[in-house]
Amino acid sequence: MRAQPLVAVAFAAALTLAGCSSAAPTASQSPSSAASAPAGGAGGDVGVFTWWADGSEKVGLEALEKLFKEKYPNDTFVNLAVAGGAGSNAKAKLAADLQNGNPPDSFQGHAGAELQDYIRADQIEPVNDVITTLGGASVFPQNLLDLLTVQGNIYSVPSNIHRANVVWANPEVLKKAGASAEPADIDAWLADMQKLKDAGVATPLSVGGTWTQLQLFETVLIADLGVDGYTQLFTAQGDWGSDGVKKAVAHYAKLLSYANTASDGDDWPGATDAVINGKAAYNVMGDWAVAQFTLKNKKDGVDYTYFPVPGTKGVFDFLADSFTLPKNAKNPGGSKDWLSLIGSPEGQKAFNLAKGSIPARTDVPSDDFPAYQKTAMASFKSDKIAPSIAHGAAVSQAWNSDMSTAISKFYRSKDQATLVTDLVAAAKKNAV
Ligand code: GAL
Repeated sequence: MRAQPLVAVAFAAALTLAGCSSAAPTASQSPSSAASAPAGGAGGDVGVFTWWADGSEKVGLEALEKLFKEKYPNDTFVNLAVAGGAGSNAKAKLAADLQNGNPPDSFQGHAGAELQDYIRADQIEPVNDVITTLGGASVFPQNLLDLLTVQGNIYSVPSNIHRANVVWANPEVLKKAGASAEPADIDAWLADMQKLKDAGVATPLSVGGTWTQLQLFETVLIADLGVDGYTQLFTAQGDWGSDGVKKAVAHYAKLLSYANTASDGDDWPGATDAVINGKAAYNVMGDWAVAQFTLKNKKDGVDYTYFPVPGTKGVFDFLADSFTLPKNAKNPGGSKDWLSLIGSPEGQKAFNLAKGSIPARTDVPSDDFPAYQKTAMASFKSDKIAPSIAHGAAVSQAWNSDMSTAISKFYRSKDQATLVTDLVAAAKKNAV
């Protein structure tokens, strides 16, 4: 049931892999399978690299760390987190460490095209044994596993699934302007933003730095092109110069005209906090934002509301964090303890409760989750799935980087024709 909607993502990923002839599994499986690991863990330091260093993201990682210490008392968790949402600082540090032969014992990598970068570069090992011990395809959606698989080998363990196309809104601010609870499409949403402006709200829409803008833009692309048109963009036939993309760029430019002024490096918590403290009406943010509302003691339905980005109802803009076993990790036994924990029902429940995401496993009951996550679980089952650009599902890191440069340039110039030209060039350079 759940596997079906993921086809669009798997399809995009499969195409990404089509040009990936060097992705043959060269790594040998460690003889110590997860099943035969000593009780209490392999022992030694286990260095885990993420970008969950601050605020609500740190709370999610801490939930895992606590459980890891309980389950694997022989192991010593070493937190190698580097701050900066979406890995904006972490990824460069990770690339340097991998390049210099100094890998962590496990690192965070997004399911889909981003993970395939590491596979192609021969930087990570298969973890088939861990996935099998965790229950394999009977507990993880097959099409999610497909995003982690190359030539029969599975290269990471998914910890969670996030939704990127969510508008977080402040109901008090909306009320001031008589703005609707959920506009039907982008034009209706823009009309509400004008109402807010007329009512004296200086910042109808809050944005952060470049990656948050790229994420906003991807949701507008989904709204204007539909899932199929959007997914098509990541194939060799994708037409980034189409009228649909031009329409999305025009919508995006209008949305930015209602937003605050941001610097390239501004992180997401500031943008979400603007909604929390009533400075802004809306923020488009992945559902890690719900953990920020919780951290600030805000109540769902009272202090904040949420809805899919107008025009994307029925679409789940998808990303999944997953954890790897790097080649030449110092403590592969400890890595497998970590992977076994994050892939277990207990690990997935503890982490996702704190993180705002939903379990990647299908056998974690929804009953104990708060209202927002219950809605996300239901949407993930029934919606069409679109792969996120900003968070590694749809495009490689090189393509993401070229699009980010184009989006950052556009933020300063507001030159729509140049943005389209830059997007076309980025696709030409990177599509496989
Ligand atoms: C994403 C990641 C999420 C969350 C977000 C903001 O790339 O998958 O788990 O951390 O960045 O930092």
